[in-house]
Amino acid sequence: MRGSETVLASYMVRDENLAEKGFLQIEWASRHMPVLSQIKKRFSQEKPLKGVTLGACLHVTKETAVLIDAFLAGGAEVALCGSNPLSTQDEVAAALAQLGVHVFAWRGQTTDEYYWCIERVIDHKPLVTLDDGADLVSTIHSKRTEALSNVKGGTEETTTGVLRLKAMEKSGALKYAIIAVNDAYTKYLFDNRYGTGQSTIDGILRATNILLAGKNFVVCGYGWCGRGIALRARGMGANVIVTETNPLRALEAVMDGFRVMPISEAAEIGEIFVTATGNINVIRKEHMQKMRDGAILANSGHFNVEISLKDLKELAVSKRLIRQNLEEYTLRDGRKLYLLAEGRLVNLAAAEGHPSEVMDMSFANQALCVEYLVKSERMPPRVYQVPKEIDEAVAKLKLEAMHVKIDTLTEEQKKYLSTWELGTT
Ligand code: ADE
Repeated sequence: MRGSETVLASYMVRDENLAEKGFLQIEWASRHMPVLSQIKKRFSQEKPLKGVTLGACLHVTKETAVLIDAFLAGGAEVALCGSNPLSTQDEVAAALAQLGVHVFAWRGQTTDEYYWCIERVIDHKPLVTLDDGADLVSTIHSKRTEALSNVKGGTEETTTGVLRLKAMEKSGALKYAIIAVNDAYTKYLFDNRYGTGQSTIDGILRATNILLAGKNFVVCGYGWCGRGIALRARGMGANVIVTETNPLRALEAVMDGFRVMPISEAAEIGEIFVTATGNINVIRKEHMQKMRDGAILANSGHFNVEISLKDLKELAVSKRLIRQNLEEYTLRDGRKLYLLAEGRLVNLAAAEGHPSEVMDMSFANQALCVEYLVKSERMPPRVYQVPKEIDEAVAKLKLEAMHVKIDTLTEEQKKYLSTWELGTT
């Protein structure tokens, strides 16, 4: 590990020599992120973040680098750490260090190293935090409460993080305003569905290189991420089975044409299992005991708690690394189960996360929400929706970048929508 040697550690990355490779990756991502590029252009002219320090805990990917670069163009100082021990792209981290970002991230961290990096970000006294999973916010609110007085607000990127923050709000623990970027239309409809759908399949294929056509592919959870995974797995020719606890979502999956059954039944026939529930111990001992020899287990939820690693380890008599991100667990009866990416998010640990085109919208929301927080008066400590104007502006810019034109309401149509008198004619 190499880092700079100032008093306030400036960065810590795996290998500074990877920077050139990182710049090429960032350039490639940037080509596919036209909305964020436009925002960067405006930020360079207006400098809305001059004198502002941002503290970010995000997956350190080429797309995140494009976001950070927009912040730098806007005049911000940025401290950044990874939001998962296995998702950092080391070449990108090296490039960011060269750009002057206080980046503390490398792929393959221990839990202690992971939280050490979060604390180094807090050392830089952020005015605004950006989180993906709420580990930065929860550390500030527990171990580093002295940093609270400096923070004006924050943003949260993911479903799991928003749920955690809403729990903090409900219990009165939340001490500053958070904008739930995840809940913007231009985020979850595209990032959670098409982003997770494609990148999860990508991760499974990179880790295993198996054929999906004809396989029984079990998706646990039919939220936006699960919907995307099921859709894309079906597109590859898999027989998709959905498991759910929510009757409305289960019904939707049925009407979308998927088989729906409890995990206890799916366990017996599944060949590939992917969890995307945001919950804990979704696949556990009693399910593993029923699984076919050779079953593959992957997780696409934020934390590595959806597949019980404890149960898998208890059932296994031995473990081998077959290839990168593919571990074989041999059970007492000789059956073998295969775990991808240590049960961490398979799309970021075994692949490169969502494609740049969807991150363009998610991160455009991030950029505009950070600007909004900086420019607003300090808001009461609650979890807020992304302002509608921001969501719509992102959609408009994306359509423009895609050269898609849409219609506008006529005056007559606007009037029709706002009156009640005219009914059946
Ligand atoms: N989350 C999912 N995909 C991502 C990506 N490519 N970059 C940053 N965060 C992500």
